[in-house]
Amino acid sequence: MGGKISFAPLANPQRILDVGAGSGAWAILAAKQFPQAEVVAVDMAPFPDRPVPPNLKSQQLNLIDPLPFDRESFDVVHIRFVLEHLSTARDVLTRINDLVKPGGWLLLEDIDPPTVSSKEAKAILLTVSNFTEFRKSKGLILASELEPMVRELGSYDNVNAHKVLIPVNVPTEDEALAQFAQQWRISINRFITGPVNEHAGWITPELQQGWIDEFDTLPWTATLPMFFIWAQKRA
Ligand SMILES: C[S@@+](CC[C@H](N)C(=O)[O-])C[C@H]1O[C@@H](n2cnc3c(N)ncnc32)[C@H](O)[C@@H]1O
Repeated sequence: MGGKISFAPLANPQRILDVGAGSGAWAILAAKQFPQAEVVAVDMAPFPDRPVPPNLKSQQLNLIDPLPFDRESFDVVHIRFVLEHLSTARDVLTRINDLVKPGGWLLLEDIDPPTVSSKEAKAILLTVSNFTEFRKSKGLILASELEPMVRELGSYDNVNAHKVLIPVNVPTEDEALAQFAQQWRISINRFITGPVNEHAGWITPELQQGWIDEFDTLPWTATLPMFFIWAQKRA
């Protein structure tokens, strides 16, 4: 997005909410880009101990609980890589929608499980397939469902969607895409090779070892669909 925080034409927002802010990277960028705005970063985890612009404040909360903000009190509400993890995604989306001012923007970004190709990396293929099936069995939403979900809210006429296919282990001349793909490669590897007992049964120690053995040695490629949705609430 060329260093911008969104594809949306944000004009002078006064209050910005980042939901499930994680490392705070997006919220910090938002605070720098709009120094006149108050940016609020919320997450169930404590905000990392890192320098932040003076117009950024953080708050610890669980999205399952009622949100401690007035209705229609934010010009921008952003949620990235969070809804896809929540079994209550539709409810959370409805409740964060209530926080967007008329004329304000709802920004959603999520990634779907990758499509992996390889003739040889059998453990990698099976791991990704198990993970995708596990998500389905839990009824977790797909990023591709976000746009229809926003339309179903009924508060938006101006709904925009952009899908980017991120190529992993595939050479690309697009430097930003290559960097993102590399970051994804590192973080997915960290996630898969994490404690097996935190993976709710979709990976065994043997399969995990297979992943580790194949990851850097066998040829495989993946395509990761990332969806950006930006929608302006009816005034
Ligand atoms: C994958 S991270 C995404 C972080 C950040 N949005 C980003 O784009 O880098 C998901 C974040 O959602 C937070 N989260 C997950 N479930 C939550 C909940 N029920 N309430 C509040 N935060 C939650 C996690 O603590 C984590 O920081």
